[in-house]
Amino acid sequence: MLNGNSRTAFRVVVCRDHDHAAGGVDLVGLSKTLALPLVGRAELTECDWVLCVNEGQLVICASQQDKYGGPVYATLGPVGGRHFATLYRHQPLAKAIGRSVTTVVDATAGLGQDSFLIAGYGPRVIAMERSPIVAALLNDGLRRGREQNAATARIVDRISLQQGDAQSLLPLLQPPPDVVYIDPMFPPKRRKSALAKKEIRTLRTLVGDDSDAHKLLQVACAVARRRVVVKRPDHAPPLAPNPTVSHKGKLVRYDVYVTKGIAKYHE
Ligand SMILES: C[S@@+](CC[C@H](N)C(=O)[O-])C[C@H]1O[C@@H](n2cnc3c(N)ncnc32)[C@H](O)[C@@H]1O
Repeated sequence: MLNGNSRTAFRVVVCRDHDHAAGGVDLVGLSKTLALPLVGRAELTECDWVLCVNEGQLVICASQQDKYGGPVYATLGPVGGRHFATLYRHQPLAKAIGRSVTTVVDATAGLGQDSFLIAGYGPRVIAMERSPIVAALLNDGLRRGREQNAATARIVDRISLQQGDAQSLLPLLQPPPDVVYIDPMFPPKRRKSALAKKEIRTLRTLVGDDSDAHKLLQVACAVARRRVVVKRPDHAPPLAPNPTVSHKGKLVRYDVYVTKGIAKYHE
């Protein structure tokens, strides 16, 4: 496998020498589904990225952890003891998604933090992720989210995961979603995402730079009944010219493209 940026060769493996009974994660099944080698700890090389179970959760980490940081996994739940959903209605993302929205596709789901935020606001969310490895991490995050407290489980229950390229999956949706949300990777430099630096570095290594994001935006605009929302770093130009409106956060903004469904912009 090649990293899309540096073209450095690495391989992703599933490591069987971990506590896989505790987490309910089937590592043998995962290695078959993802067509990744199942290896023991002694067989790991310094070029490996390792899928394994750590404290009951599916994680990925580099065998060179000093270079890339510790394990990365999907966490869907309250942060710092406060629930996203109760914080959320006045935030720029909520304004960008809009009111009275019943279905949102998160077309670049990643580790699902934005999917969780959006679902916390009320709509059903279809989370699309094209990397099978990232989708496996998200699937495990959803599983654990459903086992948390009732409030978290209710939000996670509104999220369904579709693994595949959103450019192909979006046109198949019947009925079409009200909103499509896009948060592509952005070339390095002051990139602010829902994810912390370590997660972004790991995602970038695994999936590259999402350099086809403008094509995804075109497909999304043809499918969304009401609007498409694109998350951008504050310093970056819009993915397509002339967004209908932009909602600015501290370091990111949400560019809204109103689509054919409604003539007038409603927040
Ligand atoms: C910056 S991350 C998204 C982070 C996410 N918003 C979160 O809160 O965790 C971008 C993700 O979108 C995925 N992606 C990019 N283009 C895609 C496409 N056309 N279809 C599905 N997934 C895509 C990448 O594989 C990557 O995992």
